Amino acid sequence: MADSNTTALDEATSSDALLLSNLLELYIHDLSDVFPGIEPGADGRFGYDKLPLYWSERERRFAFIIRCAGRIAGFVLATRGSPAAEDPDVLDIAEFFVLRRYRRSGVGRRAAVLLWQRLPGKWTVRVSEGNAGALAFWRGVVSEFTNGAATDTTRPGHPSPWRVFSFESAPEHVTR
Ligand SMILES: CC(C)(COP(=O)(O)OP(=O)(O)OC[C@H]1O[C@@H](n2cnc3c(N)ncnc32)[C@H](O)[C@@H]1OP(=O)(O)O)[C@@H](O)C(=O)NCCC(=O)NCCS
Repeated sequence: MADSNTTALDEATSSDALLLSNLLELYIHDLSDVFPGIEPGADGRFGYDKLPLYWSERERRFAFIIRCAGRIAGFVLATRGSPAAEDPDVLDIAEFFVLRRYRRSGVGRRAAVLLWQRLPGKWTVRVSEGNAGALAFWRGVVSEFTNGAATDTTRPGHPSPWRVFSFESAPEHVTR
């Protein structure tokens, strides 16, 4: 089992674009269980058009690689500006992925806390109710991080509604 204490969140640069696009393929394939409309293109890849924006819009887009004991364990893409908030400065988790061999060992929890500490401010976390594992994950991790202070709302979505957790990460926020 992975040791979540060795989890690090490394800022990704444009030289990590290939690494991230490969991990995105695994992530999107996982999500195709939840969103049945997701299909690969003729080349067998799902693709992720917005990835280059993470290098050209560095004020509003943040890409990180999750490493565990120095090995690749996943990634996070976050944006300033959330589809679930009117305030353009609200931070939002666009994509969040932990490789299967690292799951259920606290790596995702640790990576989320490192993210919120790295980028203090107002946050939204959106998750499809059809993604039962991720919903349980975010419900628990957000509640733990905020001591139950997050608000939890529902928005229409297809094929399932979205659950949106909203909270603030203070600069001095210290958790385990
Ligand atoms: C969701 C995901 C990020 C969780 O990462 P993880 O590293 O396995 O999560 P953790 O080990 O830190 O889990 C912390 C707690 O969340 C809950 N949890 C995590 N995954 C869960 C699951 N599949 N089912 C139920 N609860 C889950 C548990 O309470 C867990 O604590 P426990 O293992 O002590 O019971 C990972 O499964 C993943 O990448 N899934 C595919 C992509 C995805 O759905 N991303 C989220 C998009 S919104």
